Amino acid sequence: MEGKVKRITTRTLAEMKARHEPITMLTAYDYTFARLLDEAGIEVLLVGDSASNVIAGHETTLPITLEQMIYHGSAVVRAAKRAMVVVDMPFGSYQGDSKAALHAAIRIMKESGAHAVKLEGGQAVLDSVRRIVSAGIPVMGHLGLTPQSIYQFGGYRVRAKDPAEAIKLREDARLLAEAGAFALVLEKVPARLAKDLSEHLPIPTIGIGAGPYCDGQVLVLHDMLGLNKDFSPRFLRRYADLAETVKAACTRYFQDVKNRDFPSLEESYE
Ligand code: KIV
Repeated sequence: MEGKVKRITTRTLAEMKARHEPITMLTAYDYTFARLLDEAGIEVLLVGDSASNVIAGHETTLPITLEQMIYHGSAVVRAAKRAMVVVDMPFGSYQGDSKAALHAAIRIMKESGAHAVKLEGGQAVLDSVRRIVSAGIPVMGHLGLTPQSIYQFGGYRVRAKDPAEAIKLREDARLLAEAGAFALVLEKVPARLAKDLSEHLPIPTIGIGAGPYCDGQVLVLHDMLGLNKDFSPRFLRRYADLAETVKAACTRYFQDVKNRDFPSLEESYE
C-alpha cells in the first residue's frame, strides 16, 4: 500500500527557513495546472488575486470577488495532495473592519478548503491579521508593491527605495510577524532590503522581484510559463514559451479541420 503524502504546513515552512532550504511557491487558479504544480513538488500554491488579471482579463486585481476567489481556491485544493494552498483575500474583504475580515477568511477556509489566507499591507491591516490569526487561521502577509494599492502607488515601480519607505516596510514586517503572520511575501523591493529582512525576521520571506536572498520565491504561473508575452519585468524568468506552443497546436487543429484531415475514420466510431 502506498504511504499517505505528508502535507506541507506552516511548520514545514518554518523548518525549511531554519535549515536554509528555499521555499517554492507558484500561483495556481484551476485544478489541471494545480495538479501539475503539486506533482512537480512546489510547496505552496498561491491562489492569487492575480486571477483577476490572468484569468479574467481585468487590468488590476481590484475587481475580483470573494466568491470568485473561493471558486478558484476550491479547484486548487481538490488538486493539491501535498502542497499547502494559500488563498488571497480580495480587495475590500479585510481592510477597515476586522470582523468583516474574519468573516471573509472563515468563508475562504470553509468553502474552499484552503490551508491559509494571504492579505496585503502592514500596520493598517494589523487588527484584521490579529483577529484572523486568533481564530486559528494561518495568515501570510504581503508588503512592497502590493497590487491592491496600485492606484495609490500610481504605477508598478520598485517600492521602498527611499529610506523613509524602507523604514516603514521594516516596521510593517516586524508588526506582521509579531501579530502572528506565518510568512511574508516581499514584492518588487531592493534585494538588499529583502536580504536584511530575511535574515532578521523570525518568519519565512517569499520574494517576487525581491532578489535571491529571500527564504523562498514566487512567480505568477502564466508569466513564468510564457503565456503572457505582454508582461516582461526584469525579475521574470520564463521557463517555457507556452503561448507559441498553444498557438501552434491550435493552428494545426484549425488547418486539419478545414482540410477535413480531422477526424480520420480511425478517430470515428462504427
Ligand atoms: O496575486 C498574486 O499573484 C500575488 C503574487 C504576485 C505574490 O499576490
